[in-house]
Amino acid sequence: MDKITIEGGRRLRGDVEISGAKNSVLPILAATLLAEGESVIENVPDLRDVSTMIKILRTLRVHVAREKDKIYVKPARSLKHVAPYKLVSTMRASFCVLGPLVSRLGKAEVSIPGGCVIGARPIDLHLKGLKALGAQITIKHGYVNVSAHTLKGADIFLGGTCGSSVLATMNIMMAATLARGRTRIENAACEPEVVDLAHFLTKMGAHIKGAGSHLIEIQGVKKLKGVHHTVVPDRIETGTYMIAAAITRGDVMLHNVVPEHNNALIDKLTRSGIAIKKYKNKIHVQGKQRLHPIDVTTLPYPGFPTDLQAQITSLMCITPGISVITEKIYPDRFIHISELSRMGARVFLEGASAIITGVKKLSGAPVMASDLRASAALILAGLVAEGCTEVYRVYHLDRGYERLEEKLSALGAHIRREKE
Ligand code: EPU
Repeated sequence: MDKITIEGGRRLRGDVEISGAKNSVLPILAATLLAEGESVIENVPDLRDVSTMIKILRTLRVHVAREKDKIYVKPARSLKHVAPYKLVSTMRASFCVLGPLVSRLGKAEVSIPGGCVIGARPIDLHLKGLKALGAQITIKHGYVNVSAHTLKGADIFLGGTCGSSVLATMNIMMAATLARGRTRIENAACEPEVVDLAHFLTKMGAHIKGAGSHLIEIQGVKKLKGVHHTVVPDRIETGTYMIAAAITRGDVMLHNVVPEHNNALIDKLTRSGIAIKKYKNKIHVQGKQRLHPIDVTTLPYPGFPTDLQAQITSLMCITPGISVITEKIYPDRFIHISELSRMGARVFLEGASAIITGVKKLSGAPVMASDLRASAALILAGLVAEGCTEVYRVYHLDRGYERLEEKLSALGAHIRREKE
């Protein structure tokens, strides 16, 4: 297994190119199952999750070829309907093949996706949506079995205890594209990745209105075709590099971004004293010596994303004063706190809130990555800590950050990957 070693204390300077969004490309790849023909997806990041999704598609008899950041995807005439445990259990987004499979084939058997250290991740909303469309669902031996003679459009309220669900909205939106009649998804997720998927489906011939709002309307069509699509930039990778610039008091220009997708973060960093300039598809971040503490509450888009909670926590750990970070999407998503404490952070957990007293310095230490975004938070802390930080179990990072060491090294960080 690999570890990442960082010598902290270098200011990041220069330019960084942001990759395509992981959480967009994964459902888009699932959506290619709906097409009768080849799709070409561009701006695809080279990530372990993308490779896993490709393996799942191949298991379902989809022909997939990859050429740099382009993927050519062509479903066979007779698709298979079973997505196996071994692959689906490693990645939540793979559950997104359920909607397209049942819509296209009238049946699907998909393993229940794995639990995760960020807390409970139920699938009730996915199932509620499919049932409303007329599917019969049974759960047996760890698999969700769905069958439907024909899916029929319906009005579906997709609200859970923590609000909307990104992947459930996507799964139902995909299933509804080939259903008979009109579907209305109320309390739909508004995330940019939902909008990107809706753009892709619309190019394929789907009739979708309202993506990006809480009410999405889909008028079912008979068939969909393969198309070309370029994936939107990854707003979470963008946010991670913005915080990297801020935490190192650096000066970084981020390219290939959609600045408005990061408005919640831009607002918080600006209040903390960081200088940020937005351009058409660039963001310039200039760190400052003296930062102010901020309170952050994670919320569905356009609120502050849970996927940047761990990273902003690292920044607040070295910001003088007291900050409160409250997690409203995954109340248990705080595994990074104990590892940050090893580095000298002063954080106290009270329910779903982290109360942080900023310290002058963090000190490098061996730490364990527990999930994708927690790993990113430890790397950020390592960039500014005194001495050497070793981050173990970095395979989590490879799920969601393309060429992280290379990009950070180009900005001046002392970071390398080694065998454990
Ligand atoms: N929820 C339910 N029932 C469901 C589904 C979700 O109650 O059937 C709850 C969840 O427990 C959570 C809330 O709804 O409290 C929101 O979860 P959501 O379903 O929106 O999460 P997701 O769609 O499974 C995606 C991202 C996550 C990101 C969340 C929230 C992908 C592949 N994953 O997950 O990304 O944290 O939305 O924005 O799109 C990551 O990239 O590191 C990551 C974890």
